Amino acid sequence: MNKILITGGSGLLGSNIAKLASSNFKVYTTYNKNRVSMKDVYFFQIDITKKEQLIKIEQIKPELIIHCAALTNVGYCEEHPTEAYNQNVLASINIAEIAKKIGAYLIHISTDSVFDGTKGNYREGDIPSPINIYGRTKLEAEQRVSSIHTHSCIIRTNIYGWNKRDKFSLAEWMLNKLTNNEELPALKDIYFSPILVNYLVDILFKLQEKKNEGIIHIAGSETCTKLEFAYMISEVFNFDKSLIKPVSIHELGLKAPRGLDTSLNVSKAEKILKKHLPRVKEGLKKMKKLYEEGYVEELKHG
Ligand SMILES: NC(=O)c1ccc[n+]([C@@H]2O[C@H](COP(=O)([O-])OP(=O)(O)OC[C@H]3O[C@@H](n4cnc5c(N)ncnc54)[C@H](OP(=O)(O)O)[C@@H]3O)[C@@H](O)[C@H]2O)c1
Repeated sequence: MNKILITGGSGLLGSNIAKLASSNFKVYTTYNKNRVSMKDVYFFQIDITKKEQLIKIEQIKPELIIHCAALTNVGYCEEHPTEAYNQNVLASINIAEIAKKIGAYLIHISTDSVFDGTKGNYREGDIPSPINIYGRTKLEAEQRVSSIHTHSCIIRTNIYGWNKRDKFSLAEWMLNKLTNNEELPALKDIYFSPILVNYLVDILFKLQEKKNEGIIHIAGSETCTKLEFAYMISEVFNFDKSLIKPVSIHELGLKAPRGLDTSLNVSKAEKILKKHLPRVKEGLKKMKKLYEEGYVEELKHG
């Protein structure tokens, strides 16, 4: 059985990859500040900004590394640029160097925030122009990784789904508000093309079989505003949509600027995978089904 090493196993994407990989791989997963565990997965603590700690990965010698760890809080990155640089750029350099050293295929996870959001429907060849520290550090990470280790693939995405830890993805935050009968402010002027994390994981497994190199956009095949996303959630999960209040990004006074439309064009991925990527409502229906089937309980406590 091939060995897979996932960084950021306590995070949204990493924990879902770890859970879904265990039937096909021997799974090794890192966490840093938030200790987690999972059946059939070997979790270990490592700070990947500290090069000397990566010896553990060298000893495991995985054939595949999926690098999910990052500092993802956009507002926090803006106020802590050095920390953002270390965790998003330096850590990625460390992972790329170790992947090269041990000859592992590397899937590096990036973001739609590398674009400025002025046009939307971004293709892989469009020139990135990030407008906040998070986006800038993620873009620099992409560039450094691909120059260090060419046997790698950069995945730009935007995700939602069920978290292992008690923290909320966008969809979980919206569901929590609706469940508690609280008013849900939703942005009417921010467009994105999110994909359910479970769908992304399936696609990552397919891409690792093909060993694609270069940049690939993996997102939903549909663009919507965050307000439309909230309405779709209320419809799929049967909540009262009158709790949803349209707001503008300009009313929020956020710490970091946000692109207005960072939606990703997924034609390249659809061509590689020979299938259409899911629309938003399809992902939300699957998210509900996962809950009903006990997936969330297993992810959190299994
Ligand atoms: N969530 C989204 O909407 C979204 C959108 C676009 C792109 N992405 C990208 O997708 C990837 C995964 O995002 P996510 O939402 O799953 O992230 P997340 O839930 O915020 O988790 C981040 C993970 O990174 C780990 N980490 C951070 N600094 C570390 C360090 N120095 N050493 C080791 N581990 C460290 C954290 O470990 P501890 O918690 O244990 O410290 C945690 O497991 C990231 O590359 C992100 O940029 C996410």
